[in-house]
This record gives sequence, structure tokens and C-alpha cells, in this order.
Amino acid sequence: MYSEKVMDHFMNPRNVGEIEDADGVGQVGNAKCGDIMKMYLKIEDGVIVDAKFKTFGCGAAVATSSMATELIKGKTIKEAEMITNKAVMEALDGLPPAKVHCSVLAEEAIAAALQDYRARHGLDSDSTYEGCSGCCGGCGRLDQHDENNGE
Ligand code: FES
Repeated sequence: MYSEKVMDHFMNPRNVGEIEDADGVGQVGNAKCGDIMKMYLKIEDGVIVDAKFKTFGCGAAVATSSMATELIKGKTIKEAEMITNKAVMEALDGLPPAKVHCSVLAEEAIAAALQDYRARHGLDSDSTYEGCSGCCGGCGRLDQHDENNGE
């Protein structure tokens, strides 16, 4: 049912714990299953230098949190924001359909921690993307870009 990678990250999760002086902390929960994921980020010069998590949930939630922290470490904020639940699943060699929502929780936890970072530093979502005009839509501003440029 689960890939070897999922089992590995479930049995030996990476980056479990918390960062006391974290620059961004995000907690998300899944209303249906009741599982909770908390993500801590240490960010220096716009780069995620450390990431830790605490997950109270199913094995897939633990594995996806573990893989998500591995994927975002060393990434810029912008790069981390581009990491989707699909990327987390692919890195784990897939998840059963019934467990896809667990990877969504991981994506949401990253987003929540980055949002907290922005709030603490007085940055709104747009200012994270210096020079961004919304062309790729990755920042969610595609509509705005279209309006501005009449494309
Ligand atoms: Fe709730 Fe996996 S069953 S996150």
C-alpha cells in the first residue's frame, strides 16, 4: 500500500521537533480526520536554513511532513512556496488516493509558516515576490496581471 520511501519517512521521520526561535510557525489541521501539523521555519536572508515539524496524525501525515521539511530546507521563500502537495507525493514515490489529503496538509503547513513569517516581518504576500508581475500565476496573481496588462 505504501512506498518504501513513505515507510522510511514514517518510521524514521526527519526534522521532528520544534525551533525555539523560529522565524515562522504555522499550524494546520484537517477537520475531517482531526490530524494536526505544526511547522517551524528558520529563515536567513530569504533562505530557509532549518525546518522542523510536529505532527499529530496518521503515518502518511508524518511521512509527508518529514519529506516537506527535507524539500524546503535550503530553498528560498519563493521556491518553498512553489512546492505543492504533488511534489511532496512524488518525492515519496506516491501515496494511496485515500491519503492524498495528508500531503495537502503538508503543503498548507508550509504556507501557514511562511505566512506567519511575512506577518511578523510586515510583508504582505505580494512583497515576497520582488519584481513579480504575476506572469506565471505561481503567486496567485495571474488575474491581477491580466487586468493590469489587458492580456
Ligand atoms: Fe489525517 Fe492523514 S488521515 S492527515
